[in-house]
Amino acid sequence: MSDGGHVWWEDAIVYQVYPRSFADADGDGVGDLPGLRSRLGYLADLGVDAIWLTPFYPSPLADGGYDVSDYCAVDPLLGTMADFDALVSSAAAHQIRIIVDLVPNHCSSAHPLFRAALAAAPGSPERARFFFRDGPGNGQGARNGQSGAQPPNNWPSQFGGSAWTRVTEGQWYLHLFDTSQPDWDWRNPDVPALFEDVIRFWLDRGVAGLRVDVAHGIFKDPLLPDLTGPRALNAPSAYRHRPELQPLYRSWRAILDSYPDDGFPGSRTAIGEVWYDVPETLRPYLEPGGLPQVFNFQLILAGWRADEFHAAIDSALAVTGGSRAPWVIGNHDVARPASRYRLDEGFTPQTISRLIAHGDRNADAGARRARAAALVLLALPGSAYIYQGEELGLPEVTDIPDGARQDPRFFRTKGEYPGRDGCRVPLPWSGTGTGFGFSRTGQGSSPAGPWLPQPPDWGRYSVEFQLTDEHSTLNLYRSALRLRRDHPALGPGELRWLGPDAGGLLCFAREPGFILAANLGAAPVPLPAHREVLLTSGPVTGGSLPPDTAAWLCT
Ligand code: GLC
Repeated sequence: MSDGGHVWWEDAIVYQVYPRSFADADGDGVGDLPGLRSRLGYLADLGVDAIWLTPFYPSPLADGGYDVSDYCAVDPLLGTMADFDALVSSAAAHQIRIIVDLVPNHCSSAHPLFRAALAAAPGSPERARFFFRDGPGNGQGARNGQSGAQPPNNWPSQFGGSAWTRVTEGQWYLHLFDTSQPDWDWRNPDVPALFEDVIRFWLDRGVAGLRVDVAHGIFKDPLLPDLTGPRALNAPSAYRHRPELQPLYRSWRAILDSYPDDGFPGSRTAIGEVWYDVPETLRPYLEPGGLPQVFNFQLILAGWRADEFHAAIDSALAVTGGSRAPWVIGNHDVARPASRYRLDEGFTPQTISRLIAHGDRNADAGARRARAAALVLLALPGSAYIYQGEELGLPEVTDIPDGARQDPRFFRTKGEYPGRDGCRVPLPWSGTGTGFGFSRTGQGSSPAGPWLPQPPDWGRYSVEFQLTDEHSTLNLYRSALRLRRDHPALGPGELRWLGPDAGGLLCFAREPGFILAANLGAAPVPLPAHREVLLTSGPVTGGSLPPDTAAWLCT
């Protein structure tokens, strides 16, 4: 749908739902689609344009649902296809669109096609849909049915250990993630054909777009060469950013564009998850006719310093202009901003361990900085994604007992990396009760405890509690989203930097008549000249902006 000459997704606020942790309608302690549907009013009041739903498909849940065993069904734990259809239509009644997750790099080892591959012989068409290879090593390859005992190459799994697992008759298969997530071979024509059907299946059910998991990694160098030298995140390599991706994404764009929304072509989106540390890397993905959008992780990678934020924003804008690479400060894979900003540096795989070692130090500053970062995020040109619970200022839960942890990263690194469970803890909806209102049940029965334990003080972050406090983080987000919707300077467009980042002040103008000022330094700074203060992330008195505080100003 076009609105004032631009497509809806160019300046959309998209709310990321991790369905198992959002709301539980049947009281089993696991969030579900009816639970989400029952809370659409909350999301409409918050002011979001769309929901990105992380995987809700049948899955053994070895990786939180990113191990898909059926791409065109709903996991019975989360509901039925009728629940999904009801969700799409109820969301539409609230003017909220639904974006679903597409997981094309790998499936679950429980997927029927992988089971068929395991049951079939080496060299069979069933195995050719995946990467089955003999290992080198003793005896060089298969001999009398025995393959080499070493993996075919030195690729690591992103979750730790080798990217290869050996099957009983001796071959190895490739998995860039967990053993239970075998990689598809995209050069086999069955694979693109399968995913075209999956894409059409969900578009036919009325979804507004797709979030493409591991969009940088699904093609591999057919020779599967050993990695040599330092692992650059940005350059095309054996399994990153390969040129074969672009024709594939052009073909998906053509499918999306063949589903005009209200007669307007270009209205369905696909947003790629592309990890990098130099935004230039995004350029090929954003060529005309390619993926409509890619994530812009700059604000996750930047440390809490005005010069780092400034450089991060500039480098992303130079490549993407903002609307094609939505801004984010968090998601289900990284430590929550309210905790992450307690450290001064940007997110790395070590951040969660560092937070655990850090104890409670700087907790208040983290909370204040996350609120200030939200005002920066929502003032930037283009679209932004909010991960569930950010609007509540939820911290990372750092003390999940080892026995309750679920993330394969924790298991594959033998606890060296605590994993991502701490940002996936079920949301608190009310101040008291089992699960703090996360689970609802019929008369009299009491719900099961939530699938990941919540901290005892979770109630103070609850929606119920925050709605009654005009200074709460939830009310800050609600006000910011309301202002953003109404203010002519916000949404798509450009920004103009004001002044050097002296004393930690990050400051830009948007036309007409809007200034964002954020103090990322240690001492108060004078507020830039303005007519009116529209909104602040914390108390501001007199003419100065305290540390860890942001303001939206009218000039
Ligand atoms: C993406 C997802 C992450 C998942 C991984 C493997 O990075 O965001 O949660 O573990 O892909 O599917």
